[in-house]
Amino acid sequence: MKSNEISDEEYEQFQHTLQECCGIVLGENKRYLVMSRLNAVIREININSVSALLNQFKSDVGLRIKVVDAMTTNETYWFRDRHPFIILKKEIFPSLEKRGITKARLWSAACSSGQEPYTLSMMASEYLSGYSKLKKIEIIATDISSSVLNKARQGCYDEMDISRGLAEDQKKRYFDVRDGMWNIKNELKQRIRFTEINLMKTYSPLGKFHVVFCRNVLIYFSTNLKKDIISRIADTLEPDGYLFLGGSESMASYSDRFETVRYQGGIVYQLKR
Ligand SMILES: C[S@@+](CC[C@H](N)C(=O)[O-])C[C@H]1O[C@@H](n2cnc3c(N)ncnc32)[C@H](O)[C@@H]1O
Repeated sequence: MKSNEISDEEYEQFQHTLQECCGIVLGENKRYLVMSRLNAVIREININSVSALLNQFKSDVGLRIKVVDAMTTNETYWFRDRHPFIILKKEIFPSLEKRGITKARLWSAACSSGQEPYTLSMMASEYLSGYSKLKKIEIIATDISSSVLNKARQGCYDEMDISRGLAEDQKKRYFDVRDGMWNIKNELKQRIRFTEINLMKTYSPLGKFHVVFCRNVLIYFSTNLKKDIISRIADTLEPDGYLFLGGSESMASYSDRFETVRYQGGIVYQLKR
């Protein structure tokens, strides 16, 4: 076998190890993709074979970070699916305000390179610019991947990133252009705190939230892990708090702690009393 190939046994070992460390379930049909991503890591750090990489994986934290970075799918864009952000601004913020909440806390639970939390921050800016008893909106944005988090923290995007989902007036209002790169304005940045969180581990350092966006990440996990994560997200929610899932995801039978609330354009899950 060539050094850049993986045996059945090694693939099985890698499936197991990756699921254990970040929850991602790799099917047999992902083998080609896995190999090409692992080989990119091998080239970058000069290890001489896949089996050497697998042997080092458990003991070498730096390597583990690189492999998890390589194996996660970070696809994201501005205003993804649109309606969750409209519902947030038109329905959820007013309902928090009606309840007398003056400081709202939001969590973007797998924020990738930042487009989701910055879109939330755009909605917050628009809402807070009108008369509102809701005075402050704080956003915590987390991901397991340190490389996407670094990009998110910088808030600096190229033409390709910026072309996905933003209207012209939003580009003008929320970005400064320098040397062909689009930099998020401080007004949006200052209400977001980025931090690394593996959804398999504890969320207790994060505190409580009125709204959680956990979108397009549960699809990579097993049913048991989905149930566990949704139940622990429920624990982070304030009474009557809201959970948004991705367009192709639903609560199914993962938890009975939520009520399905239908708004024009989409569904939100609200914590039951
Ligand atoms: C497809 S992106 C979704 C980004 C954004 N929520 C959206 O909907 O556009 C999935 C993100 O989940 C992150 N992820 C995967 N496994 C994770 C885990 N165990 N804990 C935290 N984040 C994880 C990946 O790093 C990736 O950035």
